[in-house]
Amino acid sequence: MAYAEPGRFEILAETLMLNALLSSMYRTYVADMGLHGDERVLELGPGSGALTKHLAPLLRDRGHLTEVDVTQAWIERLRRRYGDGGWIDVIHADVRAAPLVADSYDVVLVHWMLHDVEAPDRQGVITALARLLRPAGRLFLREPTKEKHGMSADEVRRLTAAAGLQEEAAGHGKTLFAGRYFAGRYVKPERAGDDGLTGSGELAPSRGRRAR
Ligand SMILES: C[S@@+](CC[C@H](N)C(=O)[O-])C[C@H]1O[C@@H](n2cnc3c(N)ncnc32)[C@H](O)[C@@H]1O
Repeated sequence: MAYAEPGRFEILAETLMLNALLSSMYRTYVADMGLHGDERVLELGPGSGALTKHLAPLLRDRGHLTEVDVTQAWIERLRRRYGDGGWIDVIHADVRAAPLVADSYDVVLVHWMLHDVEAPDRQGVITALARLLRPAGRLFLREPTKEKHGMSADEVRRLTAAAGLQEEAAGHGKTLFAGRYFAGRYVKPERAGDDGLTGSGELAPSRGRRAR
């Protein structure tokens, strides 16, 4: 999977658009998750950090946030803004090969990014995320459904079901600027074992609760 590094203008425009103009949309999405602040959260593909902005104040005291992105420019921006270590790990990697511990996250977030992954790669990404979630942990996903630049709810359901996740809640919505979307909350069923690693090494989030 090849991702083009964004240029300066793209970084500026996307940061302004998502972190300022659309900030309330991201704030509401995070607020609606009902996080308590002590969770271990993995966000895949944070990009400009529009969700990170609202996750940070929630998690930095008692929880832990892991950010994983394949784009170097976004990773550098996140590190400049939030640092790297302590309550947050900022990892430059494809999640399918990232050195993260299986069954170790309470919450995994996929926001407006899976539709950007090439279709044949999407199952591998969702399967990797399902592996990283702890049993009874939750995946929150929201993706645009536009035919030209989006993906269908059916595809999301196929991918999550094939990864062994169960749908708890789902629905369609529309935002003024970003258009129609599908949002879902998925749970990893409780089961014994399966404590292997993804990738070549290990990076366990150092803080946050183990199980709810
Ligand atoms: C549309 S952008 C991010 C949008 C952001 N989540 C938001 O809601 O504003 C998608 C991001 O996902 C990242 N990405 C795509 N596939 C990835 C993968 N397999 N592993 C890690 N990051 C990935 C890209 O580098 C890009 O920064």
